Amino acid sequence: MEKNTATAIVTANIASIVSGIVALLLASTLVQGMAGTIGVNYGTVANNLPPPSQVARFLLESTIIDRVRLFDSDPQTLQGFAHTGIAITVTIPNDQIPLLTNLTFAQQWLNTTINPHIPSTNVVRILVGNEVLATANKLLISSLVPAMQTLYKALVSESLNHQISVSTPHSLGILAASTPPSAGKFRQGYDTHILKPLLSFLRSTNSPFMINPYPFFGCSAETLDYALFRPNPGVFDEMSKRTYTNMLDGQLDAVFSAMKLLGFDDVEIVIAETGWPSVGDLGQVGVDAESAAEFNGKLMQHVMSGVGTPLMPNRTFETYIFALFNEDLKPGPTCERHFGLFEPDMKPVYNIGILKHTVAAAAESTFPSYPTPVSTPPAAPAMSPLPAGGGAKGKQWCLPKPEADDDALQRNIDYVCGLDSEYCGAIQEGGVCFNPNTVRAHASYAMNSYYQALGRNGYDCNFAETGIITNVNPSMLRLLFALQFRSFWLMILNSNIRRRIDQSLIESIE
Ligand SMILES: *[C@@H]1O[C@H](CO)[C@@H](O)[C@H](O)[C@H]1NC(C)=O
Ligand SMILES: *[C@@H]1O[C@H](CO)[C@@H](O)[C@H](O)[C@H]1NC(C)=O
Ligand SMILES: *[C@@H]1O[C@H](CO)[C@@H](O)[C@H](O)[C@H]1NC(C)=O
Repeated sequence: MEKNTATAIVTANIASIVSGIVALLLASTLVQGMAGTIGVNYGTVANNLPPPSQVARFLLESTIIDRVRLFDSDPQTLQGFAHTGIAITVTIPNDQIPLLTNLTFAQQWLNTTINPHIPSTNVVRILVGNEVLATANKLLISSLVPAMQTLYKALVSESLNHQISVSTPHSLGILAASTPPSAGKFRQGYDTHILKPLLSFLRSTNSPFMINPYPFFGCSAETLDYALFRPNPGVFDEMSKRTYTNMLDGQLDAVFSAMKLLGFDDVEIVIAETGWPSVGDLGQVGVDAESAAEFNGKLMQHVMSGVGTPLMPNRTFETYIFALFNEDLKPGPTCERHFGLFEPDMKPVYNIGILKHTVAAAAESTFPSYPTPVSTPPAAPAMSPLPAGGGAKGKQWCLPKPEADDDALQRNIDYVCGLDSEYCGAIQEGGVCFNPNTVRAHASYAMNSYYQALGRNGYDCNFAETGIITNVNPSMLRLLFALQFRSFWLMILNSNIRRRIDQSLIESIE
């Protein structure tokens, strides 16, 4: 590609030769600059993905992606990436965290899972679980740091600690406050008991703090430009006197402020997941291929530019886009199945210059206008107005459809609670809405929390067509249920007295 372009240049006039050489240099530094920093999350919740070895070859030969994060440590996938040099991060599933606090187990795990694949596969990091604090599972959370320490010890015993690091990614649910960014702080309880020892471990082992910021989940129609790196008025932080021009910077700086508060502003931050879906549900604003391309394209430029953020100037961020493929079996709303950069047949869903030849082609297409340094920023596209009737949505709730089955409802619970444990605290054991302990009751609570939290958009109650919007307050239903239950017992009690049945019998029933 570059050779042909160079040949063509010789026949052109001197001016275009000069600008052509500059543009080619630019193109090649662009390719080199990008190589080594952009990663992708290789999720596999799908039934139509190509074999890992084919995926590995595609990434190596056709894209500039050279870091891959796996959500497991599948042997075939590790084998598939052998001899590609692509830096691989593997994930140990959450349910194995308690076992990993046992050094023998950790050593055996390394011995059987990682050792057979290195050094031919370039494994560089092991993630202990994913968004563990969001599970609200006390055993997992309390085992997290000990498990990481033990795994590290096992790496030391195999002399692999300089080659493979240990970390764990977090959702932004770990923050108690995130606006303004300078006021960012971790949730109380988790801050000193979990995150401080965790950051201490990361610092001493030279590993990064990993987070999953998703401007997509944090934005509304009003903040879409801010989330998509488009021209916008910006957000001024009164405390730090900095202006934020995009939501990602705000999220990163909120995490940075929280780390700084605990004395760990020197620990590196890695973006373990972020992305934007290309397809959504009807009426969902800002969910289309153009927006996804805009977010992911500008994300790549931004994290690699070295500009950094207002509180972390002049930094680049190792970043993993979510996700490599559209994943047809992911539960939840339509958008969840459309975060991919590629279709399962490796066709790009949109172009963000991640294919090797398109990077060069993109640079070539800037050829004629080079070296004009200032280009007018494109006018912000006209925003679609807010859907009408927003105010009328005030008293609406999202509930499971009567015909929805328990499996589907359980998937909705898992989906919502997996996003943020905040949605589900009340239905955990011991929570105020734990009873009645049925899948349907828990799903009602989780689905409705999600729908309310995201601003009561119709599509946020879709849940693969298992949700329905109603104007009956579910907590009213719960109250009615509780009242009925109480009067039922009073009724029995009364009839029992009338029938002179032994009072102790009732007490034993109660
Ligand atoms: C530690 O793990 C090993 C290997 O899996 C197992 O045999 C042993 O019983 C475990 N020890 C404890 C205390 O659980
Ligand atoms: C690791 O595997 C080798 C052979 O594959 C075995 O000899 C060794 O005992 C194993 N070590 C542990 C700690 O399991
Ligand atoms: C960041 O880079 C700019 C421009 O090179 C420089 O003026 C500034 O001092 C740097 N800031 C820090 C904190 O290094």
